[in-house]
Amino acid sequence: MPPKAARPGALRRAVAGTWALRGWALVAVMLPALTSPARAGDPKAGKAVFTAICSGCHSVQSGQNGRGPSLYGIVGRRTGERSSFLYSPANQASNLIWDVATLDTYIQAPHAIVPGTMMTYGGP
Ligand code: HEC
Repeated sequence: MPPKAARPGALRRAVAGTWALRGWALVAVMLPALTSPARAGDPKAGKAVFTAICSGCHSVQSGQNGRGPSLYGIVGRRTGERSSFLYSPANQASNLIWDVATLDTYIQAPHAIVPGTMMTYGGP
């Protein structure tokens, strides 16, 4: 994770640029797992949740890895496909395709679907 002083600028950039252009599909996919059913499908709520919870470790900029890999274009990608990120062996061996169902499960309980993953986030 970048030092605290660098984060507000990074977040502003993420909000101003990335989300406007290509974050919405990701938000729409992640939202059901992150919010109550009443808010499902609301990209603004998804963006807020991503910014608050995920962006400390993940960027949606292509090639920009943090503690976790860039999530740019994650939907339809195979696990562990970012060649620039050092994934856990568990992630690489899991051989999943990230879609609504796999993302839903992973976000709620990463170890349930990828035992041994080094993503420590334990769900909303
Ligand atoms: C504490 C840091 C941290 C937080 C918070 C976090 N992640 Fe992760 N995430 C990781 C790490 C580290 C990995 C790599 C896991 C591995 O290699 O086992 C990862 C992997 C992933 C992957 C798999 C990527 C791939 O290319 O296979 C997805 C999808 C993901 N995270 C989504 C999310 C979402 C959505 C959130 C917010 C709800 C989130 N993560 C919050 C650290 C984090």
